[in-house]
Formats: sequence, C-alpha cells, structure tokens
Amino acid sequence: LTSTPASGLPLAFYGTAVHSRTLTELEFSENCLIVVDQAGKIQALQQNVDASQINTILADQGYAPEVFPVKHMPRGQFLCPGFVDTHNHAPQWTQRGVGRGRSLNDWLNQVTFAHEAKFADIEYAKRTYAACVSGFLQQGITTASYYGSHHGDATSVLAEICHEKGQRALVGKCNMNRNAPDWYREASTKESLEATRAFIQHVARLDPESQLVRPVITPRFAISCDDELLSGLGSIARENPKVPIQTHFNEEDGEIRFTRELFPQFRTEADLYQHFGLLTDQTILAHCIYLAEGEMDQLRQLGCGVAHCPIANTTMLNFMIAPIREYLRRGIKVGLGTDSGGGHSSSMLEAMRQAFVVSLARSTQTEGKDEPLSLEEGFYLATRGGAQVCGLEDKIGTFEVGKEFDALEVHMVDLDIPSVSSPIEEEDSTFVIFEKFLMTGDDRNIAKVYVQGRSVKL
Ligand code: GUN
Ligand code: FE
Repeated sequence: LTSTPASGLPLAFYGTAVHSRTLTELEFSENCLIVVDQAGKIQALQQNVDASQINTILADQGYAPEVFPVKHMPRGQFLCPGFVDTHNHAPQWTQRGVGRGRSLNDWLNQVTFAHEAKFADIEYAKRTYAACVSGFLQQGITTASYYGSHHGDATSVLAEICHEKGQRALVGKCNMNRNAPDWYREASTKESLEATRAFIQHVARLDPESQLVRPVITPRFAISCDDELLSGLGSIARENPKVPIQTHFNEEDGEIRFTRELFPQFRTEADLYQHFGLLTDQTILAHCIYLAEGEMDQLRQLGCGVAHCPIANTTMLNFMIAPIREYLRRGIKVGLGTDSGGGHSSSMLEAMRQAFVVSLARSTQTEGKDEPLSLEEGFYLATRGGAQVCGLEDKIGTFEVGKEFDALEVHMVDLDIPSVSSPIEEEDSTFVIFEKFLMTGDDRNIAKVYVQGRSVKL
C-alpha cells in the first residue's frame, strides 16, 4: 500500500459554494470558481466570476484551460464541505436499527457485543468494513472517527480500507478488559496495551504523514477498562502526543452510577479521565449528557471536544438531551456524530435534524434559556465543528485556499432518479435551496463526494 491518495489531476468547478464562515453565519459564494491542485488542495477560490473570465483565471493559476474541463454547476447544484462524523462504531454497521429501547448496559450485552465479536474473523472484517466505509462515503461522510472492535488485526483492516477507499479517518482499536463476556473482552491488560501500540505503528506505516488515516486511542469507557489499562493508555497518549483519544463520556444515568461504584475515589468522570492522562486538546468525548459545572470548565480549559450524538441519545431507553447550547456558550468545541449503530442512522443529515429536535426540546425544558440550534449552527457542527473536534481544522471543514478539498457536490435539480427531496421552485433563493437539502435531502442528492480532491463515491 502506498500513500498517494490524491486525484493526481487538477479540478475546477464553476457555480455556487457554501461553507460556514462562523458558528452562526454561512457564506454563499455565487458564480464562484474553485481550483483544486494535483495534491487535492484548494488552490484558488474566486467569487462573482463572469463565465468569460474563467480561462484567464485558470491561466493565472498556471493552467492551460484546455488541459482539464471546468465543471459548470447549474442553479440547484452546489458544493459544500464534506461531513465529519465525530463518533461512529464500524463493527456496529450490521446492527444498525436493532435493539432500540434498551438501557445502555442491556443493549451492549444483548445486542452489541455479539456483533463486535464477529470481527475475530478477518475475512468477515474485510467484507463488512468495505461495505461500511463505502456506505459512509456514499452519504458524504468524508471524515469519520471510528471505534473498531477490540481486535487489533480487524482494526488494522479497517484503517487499510479507509486509506484505500480514500476516506479521511481516525481509527481506534477499542480497549476493554472487563465487564464484558469472556468471549468478547481482552484477556489481559498487557495484551490490550501491546495491541494498541502495534496498531498505532501499523497506521504510522500505512500513512506515515497522516495524510488521510490516523490512529486514535480508544478506551471504550471506564466501565470496561480497569485502572491499570486506563493508566497504560494514558502513558501511550503521553508517548504519542499527536495521537488523539476518544471515549464515551457521561452518556447515561446507569453508566454514570456504575462508573462511580467502580471508581469511588473520583467525584466526576472528568476527574477520572484526567487523572489517567486521557483528557487533552485532542480528546473526543462522545455524548456528554450530564456534566457537572466543574466538568464543563475542565473540558473548556483542557480543550477537549464534544461528539454530540442526538440519534443514539434518543434511541436507547431514555430521551437524553446534551446541553449543546451551554457548551457552545462556554466555547467548548462541539461536533456531530452518528454513533452508528447505537444511533439507528448513519446519515449526518439525519443526525443534524435530530440535533435540531433535541435542541428544541432543551429550549422548551429551559423555558427558552437555551435557544434551539439554527440551521447555520447545525451545518457548522456537521462540518467545521467536527473538523475542530477531530484536530483537523487546519486541513478541512471550509473552502479556504490552502485547505484540502473534501467536498460534496449536491444536486437538488437534474437528478437521475426520482427524489424525495423538496423540489426547487423558481423563486427559491440559494439559501432556500440549501435549506431544502439539509432538511429533506439524502444521499441521492449527494451526486459526488471528494476527499483530498479524489472522487470517492461509487
Ligand atoms: N458505551 C460503551 N460502549 C458503547 C457503544 O458501543 N455505544 C454507545 N452509544 N455507548 C457505549
Ligand atoms: Fe458510541
């Protein structure tokens, strides 16, 4: 395997592009010319270009215009940054939709562990992970932060598949050495740590410059890791300061109670994970439903990111609402996650819509104090916010010149197939067309997906 994933050809687009300027503001660039260089980086972006100027601009960028075609996008089509799924379980790909209405503990023991255990079979892992990565790319997820199973070999396969298919990814071998059945847990702490080190090295060989795929240290949660394992993972994190960390954090009452029983010496989960050296500015904390005041301060000060997973939070036994407005107010980094398969859907559009629903519930619950998320904010969380949470803000999330071209080509008109998305009317503004995509679109509207300039949708 080599690491030359970029397209190898320059690309140019002429039409409408939209990205987040800030949390609350979108920037629509109309009659915009975007040039992507051979390495997959955005070389130029000019707004309000008249079609007659295109060749001159390309010549200024050093391209003979006849060398490559400019893709003209008519009204109703646009480019936007690809989606960043900050929390997702690859071995749960085949269990999506199964087992709702259970407590987290029952769901893990009755549904999930049996599915993840199947990844001991490497051929099964190859097949299933190929389908999983393709499935996410189809839906415009250009970056995903994956939990694998606890099997090092299968998780290496997942990293290789992301690399080969061209998905930007954080990939984690899951650590779990207790509170799971014998047939699905790691036999010893030593093996778990050795497999983690070996996995990090494997990914470093696969993609030495972390162009696409990075390893992520992945203790499942404190319930499934004893002190020695958490402490060993903290050491690995210190030895590898560029490697991010992810875990489940304050997800559910039962989980919080059991964590406290196991670790009575810590007042909160933030204290616990901080003690073991697992809270850094590269830590991704999934769920974050019930945070004490001090924990929010810790997250803010340490620079940890929140992976908001509203679908999973409303699929299990309780309707759980993460106070996202409060996190945003405090300047804590927030991104969106599908949490596929705890979440029944692997669509970021659906995750965004559910984020709107739970934010509205939260607003009602707080009598308007926590205002619901706006369309702009939802899109920000799905793109730029996710890039921040995954430590990729300098590379992706917007269409700034110099960033890598991870993008979706959205078609709300000229679809090859009947669409369920809201049809475009003559009077619709660019904003309304975009709004119709976010609120009614699906993968059928995502005609093309680019990662680092490479077209990756089948
Ligand atoms: N907590 C520990 N493991 C899991 C998991 O697989 N999914 C979710 N949602 N929470 C967890
Ligand atoms: Fe999860």
